[in-house]
Amino acid sequence: MNILYVTGEAAPFCKTGGLADVSGSLPVALAARGHRVAVILPLYNSISTQWREKMTFRRYIYVDLAWRHEYCGLFSLEHRGVTWYFVDNERYFARGRLYGECDDGERFAFFSRAVLDLLPVLDDMPEVIHCNDWQTALVPIYRQDLMGRWDALRGIRTVFTIHNVEYQGKFGADTVEDLFGLDRGWYEGGTLQMDGCVNLMKGAMLCADAVTTVSPTYARQLRLGAYAEGMESVVQLCGDKITGIVNGIDTAVFDPSSDPVLAAHYSVGNLRGKADCKRALQQELGLQVQSDVPLISIVTRLVGHKGIDLICESLDAIMQTGCQFVMQGSGDKRYEDFFRYAENRYKGRLCAYIGYNEDLAHRIYAGSDLYLMPSRSEPCGLSQMIAMRYGAVPIVRQTGGLADTVRSCQVGQEDGNGFVFADYSAFDMQYVISQAVELYRSNLHGFRCVQERGMRDDFSWNASAGSYEALYEHITDTTRRTK
Ligand code: GLC
Repeated sequence: MNILYVTGEAAPFCKTGGLADVSGSLPVALAARGHRVAVILPLYNSISTQWREKMTFRRYIYVDLAWRHEYCGLFSLEHRGVTWYFVDNERYFARGRLYGECDDGERFAFFSRAVLDLLPVLDDMPEVIHCNDWQTALVPIYRQDLMGRWDALRGIRTVFTIHNVEYQGKFGADTVEDLFGLDRGWYEGGTLQMDGCVNLMKGAMLCADAVTTVSPTYARQLRLGAYAEGMESVVQLCGDKITGIVNGIDTAVFDPSSDPVLAAHYSVGNLRGKADCKRALQQELGLQVQSDVPLISIVTRLVGHKGIDLICESLDAIMQTGCQFVMQGSGDKRYEDFFRYAENRYKGRLCAYIGYNEDLAHRIYAGSDLYLMPSRSEPCGLSQMIAMRYGAVPIVRQTGGLADTVRSCQVGQEDGNGFVFADYSAFDMQYVISQAVELYRSNLHGFRCVQERGMRDDFSWNASAGSYEALYEHITDTTRRTK
């Protein structure tokens, strides 16, 4: 099958969060299953020259949107069995950062329209276009809009994946014609209208042939007001069209037996190298070098839904267990300040690395005994799977993809690979952390069993790439029948 995967970011080229990891690895897994897969994304100026040198300039076109007439260059490179296309327009994409600009709506309307206008010049005409998050939500909308005038679009099916329902792409009601180049009817008719604004996620959910989100539990939660950020009625309207497919991780990149940035290598059969990684991490971060002190870590964006409030509330209680604590992340200033203060208070036992450093993140996973993820909501979450692969036992709240990937090892759970608490409560989290620390201290054999189960679990894309494949087949089959 020919698949075009459309995304605002993809590792290893550019990354702000988990979407980049998924976009960098799911297409590779699909290609390995024998499909022809291409990915298309903006050519941000932050993409390094190391990659730019490998790109071929293909051609340029002009993209017309409302009254705008914009240059649009197309570059490509081959990497891991996938063709990666990059859409060039310096006015839109030479901004330093990927998102968060005041004209994001215009930038991604251009990108989405460019994806369709470029179809005739790509190597293959896709059968399925798979879009991700609000930045690409206009693709299924434009496809529907243009289909009456452009025959080739009729045979194409679209999938829209929600990686986080918090980011919906909301814009003022007056943007429909001027910014997005669509007829006012798209708004008046209700497809794009939500609470008096344009809502691109809603439009994509209604126009796409299939809607997915990144775990089965999150798919169920999206039907509930408590999780859906106002979108529950649209989710309910989608009915069977919406499914949850759990993410995988790139097991070739996240592999403690070969990861080039680690101090030592190890695997489930031989954990000696993990002890070396812990020592190296303690040295690197200025922590006391102690092999028998449990080291708890978290690598996160410092934003509300990640459950940082619970950590702020509990930090003293956590530190009273005698553990060491490492935090890497950036985000809301109040959380950053909190962790700076905490580092001072617990010198030698707590390290707060404010920022994002991918290599250090790998070393943190490898050097930790326990990995904390107390998210209030978590569509899928990748870190808990990476942590398990590196032998850091996860402590998670039972929500979204965390509930689908971590099995509790508490009382009577023979196949547990981590620790789980249900209520969003600091007390419950503290209780479970103390259980985990206790197991580490008083029953190292029991702890190793939990750790090894997590390391043995299959978090690769094998199963989930198969689920996407089945979904693509299902929607293209319907196409054939209705043609
Ligand atoms: C978003 C979600 C996260 C998910 C990732 C990839 O960042 O918040 O839970 O793992 O997308 O789908």
